[in-house]
Amino acid sequence: MSDLSSLFHPQSIAVIGASNTPGKIGYAVTDNIKSSGYRGEVYPINPKESEILGYKAYPSILAVGKPVDVAVFCVPAAASLAVAEECGQAGVKHLIVITAGFKEIGGEGKKLEQDLVSIAKKYGMRITGPNNLGVMDTHTPFNATFAKDMALKGDIAFISQSGALCVAILDWSLQRGLGFSQFISIGNKADLNEADFIEAAAEDPNTKVICLYLEDVVDGDRFIEAARKATKKVPVIVFKSGITAAGAKAASSHTGALAGSNTAYDAALRHAGVIRARTMTELFDLAIAFTTQPVPKGKNVVVVTNSGGPGIVASDAVETSGLNMAKLSPEIERELAEKLPPAANIHNPVDVVGDAKSDRYKVALDAVMKDPAVDAVVVLLSPTAPLNIVEAAQYTIDAAKANPDKAVVASFIGGKKLEAGVKLLNENGIPVYPFPEPAVETLRGMIRFGELRREVEAGQQWDFDDVQKDAVRAIFEKVRKDGRDLLLGPEAAEVAELYKIPAAPSKLATTEEEAWKAAEAIGFPVVMKIASPDIMHKTDVGGVKVGLKTKEEVIEAFNSIMENSKKAVPDAKIYGVEVQKMMPKGDEMIIGMAKDPTFGPMIAFGSGGVLVNLLQDASFRLAKGLSKAEVSAMIKETKAYTILKGFRGAPPDDVPALEEAIGRLAQLCRDFPEIAELDINPVFAYPKGLSALDVKIKIS
Ligand code: COA
Repeated sequence: MSDLSSLFHPQSIAVIGASNTPGKIGYAVTDNIKSSGYRGEVYPINPKESEILGYKAYPSILAVGKPVDVAVFCVPAAASLAVAEECGQAGVKHLIVITAGFKEIGGEGKKLEQDLVSIAKKYGMRITGPNNLGVMDTHTPFNATFAKDMALKGDIAFISQSGALCVAILDWSLQRGLGFSQFISIGNKADLNEADFIEAAAEDPNTKVICLYLEDVVDGDRFIEAARKATKKVPVIVFKSGITAAGAKAASSHTGALAGSNTAYDAALRHAGVIRARTMTELFDLAIAFTTQPVPKGKNVVVVTNSGGPGIVASDAVETSGLNMAKLSPEIERELAEKLPPAANIHNPVDVVGDAKSDRYKVALDAVMKDPAVDAVVVLLSPTAPLNIVEAAQYTIDAAKANPDKAVVASFIGGKKLEAGVKLLNENGIPVYPFPEPAVETLRGMIRFGELRREVEAGQQWDFDDVQKDAVRAIFEKVRKDGRDLLLGPEAAEVAELYKIPAAPSKLATTEEEAWKAAEAIGFPVVMKIASPDIMHKTDVGGVKVGLKTKEEVIEAFNSIMENSKKAVPDAKIYGVEVQKMMPKGDEMIIGMAKDPTFGPMIAFGSGGVLVNLLQDASFRLAKGLSKAEVSAMIKETKAYTILKGFRGAPPDDVPALEEAIGRLAQLCRDFPEIAELDINPVFAYPKGLSALDVKIKIS
């Protein structure tokens, strides 16, 4: 773990390229440090000046003669290496390199960035940036950025890969009255990256939630490790941009075609316990809610409203977002019936009806919030004439305070008439929205975080010690020696078997005699397929024969498969014919692996068979760290699960057997990073057990 305490709590800051000219970056940074109330030493560095903004200026960092924790670079890129070298000699700990003109411009810039990192490494200095806005900590306090303002003091750490977004968010937050603990522009991430800043924010006592705007992740494993650790302490929310450009690439495997970098980010963030915000609005809605409201214990939501329509809208939103409308306890409903007029609806959504004065909100909220069947509350209010809105807001605040373990969000629907009530709610930490859906969305995100955190806490990697790693390695070596990267069917089936994934028995036959002997050994009926790494679509070339019941049929099939294949693909390297046991029909599933450049192997499960790419029904998880609970959840997420449970009167399939096969496949991929692609399609799922019919493995 990187120690960033001297970056966030520096005893001294040097501004290299500090300037007396308003409008220059070196002026803005010095001015911001000064006006932020920073209590440490400030050393402006400028060879032409003796004083800058009231501070004594030095011609170079070497002239300071005292320890410097942080140096902020406001000099042109061309000067940066010489300046970094001097910083190293002066014993500076951190460089915040605002300067642009590095990796982001390519070519020379890339080289310059590498050289900058080398100098920093040589002296043990850490770099934030380059090409960034700077860093703020409102509690230290200091503002080493060239933004127009300092963030308000608060408890949200914001880490952003875009500097421009930083200034925009900052400006918005000032209008909104939203505060930050740390505000970090990470720029090109030449050295310190998102993982370092997540770790630092999680350790920061002033941070209650960590928000990130990311365009990419530098080191997948470190990111997951840092985020998993952080989410045990505080919620981490990520908005990841660039999801459309990084769509699924053409891949030769089915799983590869189903996956894509967006899927990998989903899988990785989920595994890390991180919530993925789908919009920037959601990122900050959640951030605000997490700093003021408890994480709900479960997903049972009650809606309290003074109008029917919005009550239905909110109830729909609860149901469609996968939350439950809480079923109120009989005694609570009895209490509501006693205290509310007969026209009121005492069942969830609780409707205090249109003529309600604020006291009915008090009655309803006090009752529902003490119900153990309720985890979270949505308070809806439409501005009717009899209602004192500020009082209703106050009762909401009181009820939330009296029940600190239950999350409360509100939707005061309207505008002008509600301003005072909305202000009061905002000031008292009740998230409030002009419409019901975003209120429910916020709850959904909070509840999701609770679920993810439980998954992370329970999530031990599912390992198997009864696998035959050495035998698999020997098969891969043989394949490599043979100059291939694709395993033949029988080899791939053997690999599966060595990891105790039941595969349909199969043998390679190079002559018709070997073929019928293999069939006799396996037992009739058999399926025969051409064994050639150069023939992908075997059926199309007449390279597959099914339902062969006798020695004669096997001999005939052997010869016709060889002939058809040679005719269709004359250059193909043919290894013979695979003789495979014809398995009874089962429900067709796919289990596979696709590799992501950032997060490594991802395991897929879904509906299999020839329609796999049409159905697009697959769920993904990272192979690294895959727990039994995650495997179970990934099966349940698919439409295939409906079939597995026993569709239209069919008996249910053996889900535990599938779970185990997925767990074992993940281990195979973890044990052998050289597996580049892997598909088992179809896997026949049976009421008892399963059979891997067609195993394809490609190694690198
Ligand atoms: N040591 C100390 N001071 C030095 C120096 C050195 N080696 N070399 C130059 N300086 C001084 C200059 O004399 C100048 O001071 P002055 O105003 O008193 O004349 C000051 O440092 C700045 O140098 P200058 O050449 O005027 O550069 P600039 O201010 O025009 O630009 C940057 C410097 C860093 C702002 C610019 O190179 C840059 O990268 N801009 C983009 C920043 C950006 O967008 N970052 C990403 C944000 S998300």
